[in-house]
Amino acid sequence: MKKIVLTGDRPTGPLHLGHFVGSIQNRLKLQNEFDQFVMLADVQALTDNFENPEKVADNVLQVALDYLACGIDPSKSTIFIQSQVPEIAELTVFFLNLVSVARLQRNPTVKDEMQQKGYGAQVTAGFLAYPVSQAADITFLKADFVPVGFDQKPMIEQTVEIVRRFNRLYGEILVEPEGIFPKSEAEGRLPGTDGSAKMSKSLGNAIYLRDPTDELQKKVMSIFTDPNHLRVEDPGKVEGNAVFTYLDAFDHDKAKVQELKDHYRRGGLGDVKLKRYLLEILEGVIGPIRSQRERFAADPAEVMKIVQRGTERARARAAVTMNEVRTAMKINYF
Ligand code: TRP
Repeated sequence: MKKIVLTGDRPTGPLHLGHFVGSIQNRLKLQNEFDQFVMLADVQALTDNFENPEKVADNVLQVALDYLACGIDPSKSTIFIQSQVPEIAELTVFFLNLVSVARLQRNPTVKDEMQQKGYGAQVTAGFLAYPVSQAADITFLKADFVPVGFDQKPMIEQTVEIVRRFNRLYGEILVEPEGIFPKSEAEGRLPGTDGSAKMSKSLGNAIYLRDPTDELQKKVMSIFTDPNHLRVEDPGKVEGNAVFTYLDAFDHDKAKVQELKDHYRRGGLGDVKLKRYLLEILEGVIGPIRSQRERFAADPAEVMKIVQRGTERARARAAVTMNEVRTAMKINYF
């Protein structure tokens, strides 16, 4: 039996190049080797978007389109919608007994998010407890591996704690998952077009996989480079220059990138010329994704059918796990 992989995204916006480098590329490889599930985490997205349910609902389709356009293959990967597997919510309720409020308040990722959003003491119980819900996502599937960014490490640790507690109390039912993390901090994190550390929708510095050519061009031409590189003849800085970070991430011609870096450092290579080259490279990445996306977008009903079939497959797994869980917890009355 193939090992089980679970990954997923909160559907709060279309996917960008940061997602592509950080997770999509990895999923394209993993789906050939493992029984991979890719979850549209709409329930988790609602924990901080409960006042905008239409935003989450709209983006379920948008992210599904991004998955398919990138080559997440429904014959190899099971794409499903979190909210349509109600067993996850049931399992979450049982797990909530196994976690203290103090433990949840210590989660560094949740703490950061709470600070960013200015929640303070008004944080909802749902938001504070989303790592518990995430533990249910992972365990209903008995996932062996969970490929995620470093910010998700606390969620994996929380899940492992819950699994151990559950198994000690009720019997060995659940599987301890293992996180798969990027090889380095730099890998799996792309800077924004403004040069800030991370490409992100909320910072408005993202290049989306669905951006049309003219939008892509506008964004590439506005990328933050070296602010002291004023004249073409001036020597320029390569470190911290987002154009070069993107070339490192997307240009397979490493010798060419090295040549450009040397030239830029020496002076004589202008930003516009450099950006035109990057535009070509990025169009080479996004172009095929964009056209595949348009093909799928022409038939949204078919896309939703793919996701529905995936969800049914995920629910079948949930039924098996929940039977074992209910029996172990002595709540299998009928
Ligand atoms: N928390 C993840 C994120 O913000 C999304 C997610 C929810 C997830 N449930 C998951 C990821 C289960 C992996 C496994 O990106």
